[in-house]
Amino acid sequence: LLSQIGPDAHLRMILSKQPGQRTVDDLEIIYEELLHIKALSHLSTTVKRELAGVLIFESHAKAGTVLFNQGEEGTSWYIILKGSINVVIYGKGVVCTLHEGDDFGKLALVNDAPRAASIVLREDNCHFLRVDKEDFNRILRDVEANTVRLKEHEEDVLVLEKTKNRSSSSSPLKYTVMSGTPEKILEHLLETMKLDSQFTESDPALDDFLLMHCVFVPNSQLCPLLMLSFTYHAQPSQGSEQERMDYAHNNKRRVIRLVLQWAAINTDHLQEEDSSFNFLQEFNETVCEDSGRIPALKDQLPELVKIIKQNPSLSFQHKVLLRQFSTGNDRLQKKQPIRSTDEILFKVYCSDHTYSTIRVPVAASVREVIAAVTDKLGSGDDLLLIHLNSAGDKELLKPSDVSIFSSLSINGRLFVCPREQIDSLVCKRLHLKHTSHELIYHTFGRQHFKKTTANLDLFLRRFNEVQLWVVTEVCLCPTLSKRVQLLKKFIKIAAHCKEFKNLNSFFAIIMGLGNPAVCRLSQTWEKLPSKFKKFYGEFENLMDPSRNHRAYRLTVAKLEPPIIPFMPLLIKDMTFTHEGNKTFTDRLVNFEKMRMIANTVRIMRYCRSQPFNQEAPQATGKSHQDVRSYVRHISVIDNQRTLSQLSHRLEPRRT
Ligand code: CMP
Repeated sequence: LLSQIGPDAHLRMILSKQPGQRTVDDLEIIYEELLHIKALSHLSTTVKRELAGVLIFESHAKAGTVLFNQGEEGTSWYIILKGSINVVIYGKGVVCTLHEGDDFGKLALVNDAPRAASIVLREDNCHFLRVDKEDFNRILRDVEANTVRLKEHEEDVLVLEKTKNRSSSSSPLKYTVMSGTPEKILEHLLETMKLDSQFTESDPALDDFLLMHCVFVPNSQLCPLLMLSFTYHAQPSQGSEQERMDYAHNNKRRVIRLVLQWAAINTDHLQEEDSSFNFLQEFNETVCEDSGRIPALKDQLPELVKIIKQNPSLSFQHKVLLRQFSTGNDRLQKKQPIRSTDEILFKVYCSDHTYSTIRVPVAASVREVIAAVTDKLGSGDDLLLIHLNSAGDKELLKPSDVSIFSSLSINGRLFVCPREQIDSLVCKRLHLKHTSHELIYHTFGRQHFKKTTANLDLFLRRFNEVQLWVVTEVCLCPTLSKRVQLLKKFIKIAAHCKEFKNLNSFFAIIMGLGNPAVCRLSQTWEKLPSKFKKFYGEFENLMDPSRNHRAYRLTVAKLEPPIIPFMPLLIKDMTFTHEGNKTFTDRLVNFEKMRMIANTVRIMRYCRSQPFNQEAPQATGKSHQDVRSYVRHISVIDNQRTLSQLSHRLEPRRT
């Protein structure tokens, strides 16, 4: 019989038996057959023998038969024994063709996600081997190939690798994105998004994408991508009417959720970039319209509307040439001279730090600016315009002054208030809030983003300033006993900084004390009480850079936010990652690198996840004010040679 029907038919007959009915001989025959299948070649003998017991033969006669549809739940994994199939994606059509020996359909099984594509038979009479989900999970899930490369039109578009899920170490291995084209990464993240879970931290990969996309797909490109036929407007082409509708609706909900999360992470950009807030508005309109037909979209609408309301600049419909160029030249359009008639959008703050955005010609006079604000606020008071720089200095602007915007200091702000409130104006602390994105701009080079890193720059400048302050004070202190007092004082301040979890200033002070001009003052150090020497020794240990700053990292890991981290180290980590890893290989984004950098940004985000409101105890009125203004106006010598000369004058070298 065997010779009549041929070995092929015999195998088919065995494979068509219920797995439980297969004899030892049957299993041996199947096993031998499996040795020749490309898709299984990397698997061990044991795994192949197990597979022999569960593989099922499946054949279809007609080209055009749909094996399964994109968006469906995955139930099996397939190997092509004979024939070929098309991989079809909504909005894209056929993206690739698979042939004898290829396999497909494991993404949905491993990631517990919907099918990423539909599979359509390309020719009549195709044969497959099929492994159903339970068997796949039991036998193959953890041993299946670690890397999957998805192709579209002969080119790699997504590389996935199996790793343990980051959020729970006990969960099984899943595919995570290693690299891919921006579009395909986006598509993959949308597909694998779980709609039933709470968003925010639930999908770390999505968070990585939204934090880092400015590096590989800026908002100007991302926004249009979200409205295409493979994203928001995806229209399934197969399945029953109900199935197609369900798919389209769920898909829209996913895109809406992504947009909500994008807007939450990118609030700064929404206020700064016309294109981004225009997009959000258009998106909102589209969703509003759709929700008339699709009630399932209604529950996401309020959140969308809320975000739009929270970003006041969104209400401006017109295109304005310039926006807030006070923070430096980066935002100016290159090579275009600014004309007096160009208009500028500008924030003017009230003493309670709320602001109104006004729009006036660049050359508007102070009087006109005040008029515009008064109008906007509907205020009856006589207002004054004040420029407040980040050090808290106030400058009353003369009504006749014109074109004041370009001469404001970095981070300076314009305030309006009645005369009697001038004294109560205070500048806010530097905004660590903005530094998360600025860290990315700083690492990759802000010229690529055309964004300012002013907040971060000022923060780093402050670090140097505090460090030099310590050195300057010690070197300018002529009496030995007073110098000892100073050392004690700085060590105490460092201890306070540590207690308040301001590790940046803590490091600045300890590094200041470690400056050669200070640490060489052996007579001073000798007189330091041993208690202080001990503290200083402990603090120095914390700064020990060995094993990649292990001591510091362990300490920080134990702290609860709010924390002001040692910023230079965060920057060093990022730069190290950036310089050691390419951002692109060919067209593919190195997403592994994005993940690493996002992890550092997340440290920053964690540090400031709680507001810093430990106001120093309001010490007796006047002295408190004095301390504040002293701290804001520290003047330092920033020349190491001068400092060194001063130090030698205090304690000449002993010979
Ligand atoms: P799965 O998502 O389970 O179902 C569809 C399968 O198509 C998918 O797993 C992959 O195995 C396979 N496939 C091949 N190329 C692609 C591609 N470019 N995009 C998505 N899926 C693809």
